[in-house]
Amino acid sequence: MPSLEIIKRRIPLQNRPLHPAPYRGIIITAGDNLRLKEMNLNIKRRLHNIMVTGGAGFIGVNFIRNLLSNRKFSGRIVNVDALTYAGNTMSLPDVPEKHEGRYFFLKADICDTERIYGIMKDFGIDTIINFAAQSHVDRSIINPSDFVGTNIFGTFSLLEAARKSWKPGRGYLFHQVSTDEVYGTLGSEGSFSEASPYSPRSPYSASKASADLLAKAYYHTYGLPVTISNSSNNYGPYQFPEKLVPLMINNMLERKPLPIYGDGKQVRDWIYVEDHVRGIWLILEKGIEGESYNIGGGIEHENIRLVHLLCRLVAEETGAVEKDLRELIIHVKDRPGHDRRYSMDCGKIIRELGWQRMYTLKKGLAKTVKWYIDNTPWVENARSGEYLRWVDENYGNR
Ligand code: NAD
Ligand code: TYD
Repeated sequence: MPSLEIIKRRIPLQNRPLHPAPYRGIIITAGDNLRLKEMNLNIKRRLHNIMVTGGAGFIGVNFIRNLLSNRKFSGRIVNVDALTYAGNTMSLPDVPEKHEGRYFFLKADICDTERIYGIMKDFGIDTIINFAAQSHVDRSIINPSDFVGTNIFGTFSLLEAARKSWKPGRGYLFHQVSTDEVYGTLGSEGSFSEASPYSPRSPYSASKASADLLAKAYYHTYGLPVTISNSSNNYGPYQFPEKLVPLMINNMLERKPLPIYGDGKQVRDWIYVEDHVRGIWLILEKGIEGESYNIGGGIEHENIRLVHLLCRLVAEETGAVEKDLRELIIHVKDRPGHDRRYSMDCGKIIRELGWQRMYTLKKGLAKTVKWYIDNTPWVENARSGEYLRWVDENYGNR
């Protein structure tokens, strides 16, 4: 069996740095079929004290809930969130008591490197999962500066804190949560793979692409143990109601107009959030440093078709007449630079880490519809204040 110490990393020659950083971790060989198996047996990730940034937002909340119920994880979670309009401690009200001594919440901005460094020291952080971001494309078009600040500078700040805190080769990991939008837009054919070039087209996707590049640069330059996941459009419980799926469900429940941008024939690849967070956990356990992994539902739907399906599911759940809900659909002015189609090739995470999607679109959406119907206090809280201001700003003159 070849020694892992002498095996070389499978990176196409042209992508190898001319002067790679000194070897500080496991190196993997080209073409060795045993490569992943051996690697995975040999990686001793700590995964004891995990800092989850943005853990009061949609995907972070789902990740924390999922991880705390995962029998393979017995460590601590430190949730670091600035509580912007999208962060909500009401999403985790039961968790501090139920998991006393294992779950901590700290209100902090990821751009504050010293604070992050202090938290890392205080809690002995060995793993960072960076969910914190400004995440809404429409907001990035109206106010791009927050996106540059949080998504680019914030990621840089976390990378710096990690570089200062961690000695090489000790089982640490920095995981950057990213999006398929960094790859740009597709025509009617083809899918994005991890080898697709980055070609972002909105301030949001450009800021996420920049953050990914910084993370990759820290891996190559400083040997910081970094992995990246690029996920497609998520839906599920606790999503801030400005995004398509919860916006449509809540508007249907209140018989408000359902605003479709342009012709509604833009295609998105939809994934139920639970499938996404399970993928992230697999990467934390077994993912290879320096690698990116696509995580997508493999379910492509035009927006208009998705909204029709939601009309059916809301009708089934509430007894409303589906046709009445469909009549609420209005076509409004399109988003500038609207990406036409996203599609993800997720072969790598399936083959190499054994990930599988568990939810069909219908099953995931039905669960989501039910969750929004059953959680009116959460929805009412989220749909006050900043949400109302945003609805006015984004839809007022459309
Ligand atoms: P979200 O907007 O619901 O949550 C973001 C969280 O980050 C909020 O709790 C917010 O308070 C926090 N935050 C924002 N700025 C911060 C700062 N400066 N310091 C600390 N905390 C801050 O977003 P989400 O949908 O949960 O997305 C999480 C991550 O996943 C993001 O990085 C996003 O780009 C990525 N992603 C999202 C999707 C999707 O469909 N939602 C798809 C792919 C990738
Ligand atoms: P969104 O949930 O904002 O995610 P993203 O822009 O990151 O893909 O939007 C999903 C799709 O739905 C996108 O093509 C834009 C479209 N959309 C509408 O047609 N109407 C709306 O009111 C919103 C919020 C989105």
